[in-house]
Amino acid sequence: MKSELYSLRMRASRGEKHISGAERLLEYSLLEDATSVMLKRALNHVRGKAEKICFKLQPVPSRQVSKRNLLNLTTFEVADWPQGRALAAQLIGNLGVKSSIVQEAMAQLAGGPSPAGEAMRGAMLVSTETGQRLEPDKTRGVRVSRMDLDKDAGQRVEALLTDMGLNNPRVIEAWTLASKVALYPQVVAALCWSDDPDYITGYVASAQNGNQRVIRLKEAGSEIGGRIFFVRPGGDLNDLISHLQYEPVLFDAPSH
Ligand code: COA
Ligand code: AMP
Repeated sequence: MKSELYSLRMRASRGEKHISGAERLLEYSLLEDATSVMLKRALNHVRGKAEKICFKLQPVPSRQVSKRNLLNLTTFEVADWPQGRALAAQLIGNLGVKSSIVQEAMAQLAGGPSPAGEAMRGAMLVSTETGQRLEPDKTRGVRVSRMDLDKDAGQRVEALLTDMGLNNPRVIEAWTLASKVALYPQVVAALCWSDDPDYITGYVASAQNGNQRVIRLKEAGSEIGGRIFFVRPGGDLNDLISHLQYEPVLFDAPSH
């Protein structure tokens, strides 16, 4: 493997149940440490004990990698998750998405958006024009991949997060993923809350207003989480999905 960068991905599962996943996009010399951190995470996860842990390593030619800035990060305090959901709906509405479309999509996410009424394996895509689901497979959804912090940005980003009291890998991973999604002009907004039962913070992300964390977006203990990407009409959907899944992007700190 002679490429300068590698996509390193870990997935832990027990039977059909997804326990945890993580990914990095990094250079050869950092692979060993990153793999060991992922292994620790897989072995100690709140969703339970893993039976199988798979690692994948794929070279990514560095000439294919785009360099971008993370979205600005803000946090909204709310008293409880219903207030958090109302705020999230308002934040998406502020971006011009019709309230009825936002409410319907959020209700689907809350009820388990897969046809079996469970969490999906990736994100829902929802048309901002019709409210229709656009992802080709409604059990799988679309999984964003091949993004990370740029090696030289790590310290800057961690210093920023330390100032905000938020310096932990989960925030960095969610922020990086959200920043990649917001790169594509077809995406008006992304909404996320986790399926980890102990993680109740979620966010609305958009190129226009940045990554807006909402500290309570679901009830503690719930394993139903997910992501919705609100997509404006007019672009090539297959092209968007391909970029979300495969375009490698490294991020530096926000530009202002
Ligand atoms: N949830 C449920 N099942 C998953 C899954 C997930 N997140 N990721 C993979 N799988 C299962 C699916 O059955 C999948 O088959 P599918 O493509 O038909 O859905 C199968 O594993 C193989 O998936 P594949 O796409 O080959 O996995 P991968 O090697 O590319 O790894 C992960 C994907 C695990 C790295 C990715 O899902 C992940 O969790 N990335 C971390 C994302 C992140 O940083 N999130 C921010 C956290 S806040
Ligand atoms: P998490 O933030 O990892 O708890 O994931 C919450 C939900 O987001 C999952 O239930 C999936 O529906 C979805 N999801 C997980 N990983 C991805 C990804 N890489 N891209 C898009 N959606 C994802």
